[in-house]
Parts: sequence; structure tokens; C-alpha cells
Amino acid sequence: APPAAVLPDGFRVLKLEETASTNAAALDAARAGEPGGLWITARRQSAGRGRQGRVWTSDEGNLFASLLLRDPVRADRLGELPLVIALGVHDTVAELLPPLQRGQLAIKWPNDLVFDGAKLAGILLEGADDGRSRVVVVGIGVNCRHFPAKIEYPATSLAAIGVPASADEVFAVLAVAVARRLGEWRLEGFEAVRAAWLARARGLGETIRVRMPARTLEGRFEALDAAGRLLLRLADGRIETISAGDVFFGTA
Ligand code: BTN
Repeated sequence: APPAAVLPDGFRVLKLEETASTNAAALDAARAGEPGGLWITARRQSAGRGRQGRVWTSDEGNLFASLLLRDPVRADRLGELPLVIALGVHDTVAELLPPLQRGQLAIKWPNDLVFDGAKLAGILLEGADDGRSRVVVVGIGVNCRHFPAKIEYPATSLAAIGVPASADEVFAVLAVAVARRLGEWRLEGFEAVRAAWLARARGLGETIRVRMPARTLEGRFEALDAAGRLLLRLADGRIETISAGDVFFGTA
């Protein structure tokens, strides 16, 4: 593999032509002793992975990037990390959009980026423990040029919403934005992150459906708890705390 280039914030980046999954490549790099702070990007992914065991099928021209972190935070606070990363992805696309369109951009819990409700980017965290440290790989897929035909959730791309940025251009902005949010999280703690996340959340205070492997619940999206879990108020007034699931809104 080519040597990794150094980014301004001290992170390094290894740019690959093709790999099965940049997340898998980053986990392999960790197993080979790579220190934290390494980004791996690829122009093509042949076996991209999505959340909840799904595949991520996405064509060349889109962005595939994974960041390898070691011991980013105490184990009991790891649930905060997806929200931190989602903010970095939101910042990135917001920066590329004309100001008047930024209000159409939102984060769908836990960490999808949506534009007018259609998915623009997804995030997949994977972990491993190699005895020396806890390895966390943050995988980010951004639809720059293409988006999949609607399967169960509407999708879109930067090109389709009038932002002609290439994967390389998006990555350059993303690497800085993610580093900035990680730094803010370390310095100011989760409260600052949660407040910023809630300000960009889609459907807060509205009725949503949350689909989990064994059941689907409907209720009001009340808030996030201190660990970033979704608090859903059911019709009987009880609050359900949800740590993983897929959120659906009104018609979507
Ligand atoms: C989701 O299901 O929404 C998460 C999708 C995450 C896709 C990205 S693309 C780069 C990285 N490598 C992978 O195999 N998956 C993530």
C-alpha cells in the first residue's frame, strides 16, 4: 500500500483505489499494529458494510472513508461517538451547501445525514479489542454522485441537490470537520455535542416509528439521554429508551 499522507490536524490518510470495505481495511490495519488517527479511503468498495448487518452498495464517485481510533473515550461513553461523528458529517455537507439550503439538512437518529428527509450519508462504527487498546473504526459513506434506488428509505446525492463536489473534495472538508468535533467533544464533553446534535435532529418532538429487530414502536421523539440513546414517549405515557433501531417519519 502507498504510504499515508499527513493531514493538517495530525491525522494520516491512506488512499486506496479499491478495497472490499474501508472499515475492514482499517480493522486489518489495527491488527497489523497501526496506531490511531489513520484514515483509509477508497475510490471503489466491493463489499461495503452498512448498519445492522446490511450491505452498503455504492458506486465509484461516492466517498468511502474510515477513521481508525484507539481508546477514543472510556468504554462506557462510546455510545456518544456516533453522534460526534454525525455532527462532523453534518458540518461537512453544510459547509458545501449554499447557506439558504442548510436548513434542509438534518441528522436522523442515530447518525444518518438527510436532506429533505432523503439519505445523503451513513455512518458505521465497528470495534475490536486487541489487548493493547480498544480499537474503534468510524466508517463514513457519502453519496456524492450516486444514490441507490429507493429500497425502504428515500436517498439522494450531493450532485442531485446541486453540490458538484468530488469524493476527494468532500473528504478534505470531512477530515477537518471530524477532527474539530472530536476535539470539541474531548474538551467540552458530551453536553455540548448533545445540544448541537439536537439542534440538527430530524423529528424531535414529533411522532416517529422506530423499527427494531423484534418490534416496531411508535411514539414521540422526546430527547436523547446522556448516552445518546433515543427517548420515545409511548401512547401510554411511558418512556422507552432505545439504543439501536431505524427511525421512520410520517410518510418516509
Ligand atoms: C449505514 O448503514 O447507514 C452506514 C453505512 C456506512 C458505509 C460506509 S462506506 C465507508 C465505510 N466502509 C464500509 O464498509 N462501510 C462504511
